[in-house]
Amino acid sequence: MAKQKSISLNHSPEEELAHPDIENVLFSREQINHRVIEMSDTITSDYQTLGATELTIVGITNGAVVFVSDLLRGVRLHTRFDTVRVTSYYDYDSPVALPKILAQGKLRLDGKHVLLVDDILDTGNTLSLLRKTLLAQNPVSLRTCVLLDKKSRRVTPFEAEYVGFDLPDVFVVGYGLDYAERYRNLPYIGTLKIERRDTSSWDD
Ligand code: IMP
Ligand code: MG
Repeated sequence: MAKQKSISLNHSPEEELAHPDIENVLFSREQINHRVIEMSDTITSDYQTLGATELTIVGITNGAVVFVSDLLRGVRLHTRFDTVRVTSYYDYDSPVALPKILAQGKLRLDGKHVLLVDDILDTGNTLSLLRKTLLAQNPVSLRTCVLLDKKSRRVTPFEAEYVGFDLPDVFVVGYGLDYAERYRNLPYIGTLKIERRDTSSWDD
């Protein structure tokens, strides 16, 4: 029989779900839900003001998968949905990770209002590359939406039209964001305990 986990009724829902590897919860499940609904509402009314009835939402996988699935369910326009797959790699000449497109989207973007969605805007390299790539397909408009923005980390100048929360220069996981591919499933966003950043300690 599966081992039962004991749950103290005195704990908040966030504490009950707390992962032992997480140092601090920065944005709770409730805060994220609330903000994402606000963002969907703003996006809906902005595009209605533009006279758009349809929006093509392009999510960047893997990181944006959780965010974009919540966001698009709150958008009250006709939506088309696609993904592009990007990975970041380190080049000998660069101190920062450089993005590479692994898979393009399938939908045509010419003549469409396009909203590009990512989990986090950090150096700006990923979104600059994708903006250039998607603009070459002649959309009517192209805006970007990120849940988190670490403005102080920018290497390539980039401003997103829609930002959920500003973040200082801290590494976070959860709600789609990973560290060595773990923690994407956490329903909140938090920082990782320092001792868990050494993946050689991951024998479990
Ligand atoms: P940029 O090209 O540096 O703006 O990179 C953005 C990508 O870096 C995001 O899509 C994330 O995959 C990753 N990233 C940046 N900061 C964090 C973080 O704090 N936690 C997890 N992933 C991050
Ligand atoms: Mg990512």
